[in-house]
Amino acid sequence: MSGTMLLTGGCGFIGSNFVRFVLANRPGWSIINLDSLSYSGNLENLTDIEGHPRYRFVKGDICDADTVAPLMEEADAVVHMAAESHVDRSILDSRPFIVSNVLGTQTLLDAARRAKGGAGVGRFLLVSTDEVYGSLPLERPDLRFTEESPLRPNSPYAASKTSADLLARAYHHTFSMDIVVTRCSNNFGPYQFPEKVIPLFVTNLMDGAQVPLYGDGKNVRDWVHVDDHCEAVLTVLEKGRAGEVYNIGGNNERSNLELTRTILEIMGKGPEMIRPVADRLGHDRRYAIDGGKIERELGWRPTRSRWPGALAATVDWYVTNRSWWERVRSGAYREYYARQYGALS
Ligand code: DAU
Repeated sequence: MSGTMLLTGGCGFIGSNFVRFVLANRPGWSIINLDSLSYSGNLENLTDIEGHPRYRFVKGDICDADTVAPLMEEADAVVHMAAESHVDRSILDSRPFIVSNVLGTQTLLDAARRAKGGAGVGRFLLVSTDEVYGSLPLERPDLRFTEESPLRPNSPYAASKTSADLLARAYHHTFSMDIVVTRCSNNFGPYQFPEKVIPLFVTNLMDGAQVPLYGDGKNVRDWVHVDDHCEAVLTVLEKGRAGEVYNIGGNNERSNLELTRTILEIMGKGPEMIRPVADRLGHDRRYAIDGGKIERELGWRPTRSRWPGALAATVDWYVTNRSWWERVRSGAYREYYARQYGALS
C-alpha cells in the first residue's frame, strides 16, 4: 500500500516523529499534514522536513468540514492522530477533549466516507490509546489488556478517546468503511511536549527544579519508544485487517518511582529532587499491553524501547535540544504549569 496519506496532528510529538519515520522508510508514501497548531502542535518539530518533495503542511482544524473535504479527495489513506492528549488538562477542562477527539473524529470519518463521489478514501487508521481499557490492579501482575478487554475509560480524556474509538468501529460496521484502530501505551522520545512526565521531569531537573511525583509513585505504565509506535502504526496501516483493533506496547512496564529514579540516575541527581505531590484525580493504577495480536498477525514487535538505554538516549535529546524546550516552556505553558504545580522558576 502506498500513495498520498492525509495525516492529522503531524506537528505534535507522535505526529512529527511519524512524518520523519514515513519519509525516511517508505518512498511510496507522500504526506499531507493537517494540523491546527494548537498549544502542543509546533512547526519547529519539523523544520528539517520543510521543503521535502513528498511532504505538504496544511494549517487547519479537523472539526472544519470545509477544510477537511478537499484534502480527502487527494488522500489514498488517512492516519488520524490529532487529539487533545493530556489527562491532567482533561481534569481541568474536558470540553476541548470532546470537541477535538469526538467531533473532530466524526468530521473526519464523515468526510472520508463521502470523498471521491462516495467511494471513500482507501483506508482510515485511528490512533487510539490503551487508556480506553481503564486500569489494572497492581495486585494482579498476570493481567494485561488484550483487544478483547472491556472498555472502561476513567478520565475525561480517556472517555473522549473511547468515543472516537467506538465511532471508528461504528463507521466500519455501518458503512463498510476500511477502518483500523491502534491502541498504544505511553510513548517517550524526542519532541514530546513537556507537560508529559518524562520531558517534564528531565527539563525540571535541567533547570534545577524538583520533580512532582503524584501520590505514592507506584502507578505503572508500559513505555514504548515513539519510533516503535510509528513503525507499528505504519505496519497496521499497510497490513492490518479492516475492522480490527491492534494493541501496541513496549513490553516495558515501570512504576513511576522506578522511572523517576532511573531519570535521576541518568542525570546524576539525588532523591532529594523528588517532590511528592497530591495524586491525580482518578489516577489509573496500571496499564499493561498484551501485544500478542500484532506480533502474530503482522509480525511486529517493539525493538527500540529497551531500558535504560532508550530512556538515556531520550534524556540526552532534551539535554542537547535545550533551546527547543525552553521556547516550548515559555508563554502559555507557564500558566498551565503554575496552575498545576506552582510557579515555574
Ligand atoms: O497510555 C497512553 C497514554 O499515555 C496516552 O493516551 C496519553 O495521551 C498520554 O498523555 C499518556 O497518559 P499518562 O497520563 O499515562 O501520561 P503522563 O505523562 O501524564 O503521566 C505518566 C505517569 O506519570 C502517570 O502515572 C502520572 C505520573 N505523573 C505525571 C505527571 C505529569 C506524575 O507523577 N507527575 C506529573 O507531574
